[in-house]
Amino acid sequence: MTASASDNLLDWYDKHARELPWRNPPGEPAPNDPAWPYRVWLSEVMLQQTTVAAVKPYFAKFTTIWPTVFDLAGASDDEVMAAWAGLGYYSRARNLVKCAREVASRGGFPSTEPELRELPGLGAYTAAAIAAIAFGERAVVVDANVERVVARLFDIEEPLPGARKPIRARADEITPGHRAGDFAQAMMDLGSQICTTKAPRCLLCPLSEECEGRKAGQPERLPVKPPKKAKPERRGTAYWIKREGKVWLVTRPGKGMLGGMRALPDDGWSAREDGSGEAPIAGEVQEMGAVRHTFSHAHLTLRVVRIEATTAPPGDGEWWPIGEIEEAGLPTLFVKAARLALASN
Ligand code: ADE
Repeated sequence: MTASASDNLLDWYDKHARELPWRNPPGEPAPNDPAWPYRVWLSEVMLQQTTVAAVKPYFAKFTTIWPTVFDLAGASDDEVMAAWAGLGYYSRARNLVKCAREVASRGGFPSTEPELRELPGLGAYTAAAIAAIAFGERAVVVDANVERVVARLFDIEEPLPGARKPIRARADEITPGHRAGDFAQAMMDLGSQICTTKAPRCLLCPLSEECEGRKAGQPERLPVKPPKKAKPERRGTAYWIKREGKVWLVTRPGKGMLGGMRALPDDGWSAREDGSGEAPIAGEVQEMGAVRHTFSHAHLTLRVVRIEATTAPPGDGEWWPIGEIEEAGLPTLFVKAARLALASN
C-alpha cells in the first residue's frame, strides 16, 4: 500500500468512523486519563468473538458499576461473572478479574505491547490493540476484519490458517508510524462496514484502486477458509429442583465449560460425550422437554427435568427465590432451561 493509500484510509475514517462508547473521535490523540486504557482494554476483551451491538449494553453496565480498573479489581469473582452472564465465552470474564487485579497491583496499565502481553489472559491481538488505541504506540493489530481486508488488498490466496503469516507481514508493511489507534480502528471499520465477508462494497472503498483482490475478481472468496469441521452433538440433563418458591442453583467449578458461573445442577454433560442423568434427589419428577444451545465447539441438547424436592440436594448450592431468577446471572443455556421449566408452572 502506498503512503497515499494509508492516508486515504485515514481520510475515510475521519468521515466515516463509527461512534462507539469506548472510542476517541478520529484525529484526536489518546486522552491522558488513567480510565482510558481501562475502557479500551474492557471493550477489546468484550469484542472478542462478539458483535459491537451485543457488547454495548455490557460495556455500559461494567463502566457504570466499575468505572476504573481499581474498582473492578475490588469486585468479587461472583459479581463479575454474574454481570458477564449472557455475553458468552466465560473464560474471558475469569481472566478479566485476574488481569484487573494484576493491573491494579502495578498501579495502572503498562503502555508498551511487550509489557501488556505479560498480563494474565491478554493475547497478542489485545496487547497490540491496547498499545495502539490507548497509548498511540505503533503496533500491528490483526483481528478477523483486518485479516479479511489485508488478504483481499494483497490477493493472498493461501488458505487460513497458513495465510496468517503473510497477512501479518503485509499488515506490518502498511501500518503507519502515526495515528496508530485510528489506523487500527479504520482497518476494523473498513472490514466490518465495507470489506464485508459476503458482499464487499468495493465502490465505496477508499482502497479499491489498489486492491489486488478486487482486480483479480471475486474478492469475497478471500481469505480462503479451511473446510469447516462438523460440530459434535452432545446431550445432557439439567435439573430444576424446586422447593417452597425457590430453586436450587450451583456454582460451576472454576475451570472448564461455563466455569465459575451460577447454573442449574446437571448430570455432567460437559465432561462427557453423552448425558444419561438420573435425578440426583428424591421428589416428584416431571419431564419438561429439552433446549438446544450451540457453543463454539459443540451443539448441545439439554433435557430439562423438574423435581419437586422432598430431600435436600447433595453437594454445595443455594436456594434461589424463583421470582428473582433474572438476577442470578445465569448463562444463556440455563436461561433457556429456566424458561422451559417455568413455562408450564
Ligand atoms: N472490534 C474489536 N475492537 C474494535 C474496536 N476498537 N472498534 C470496532 N470494532 C472492534
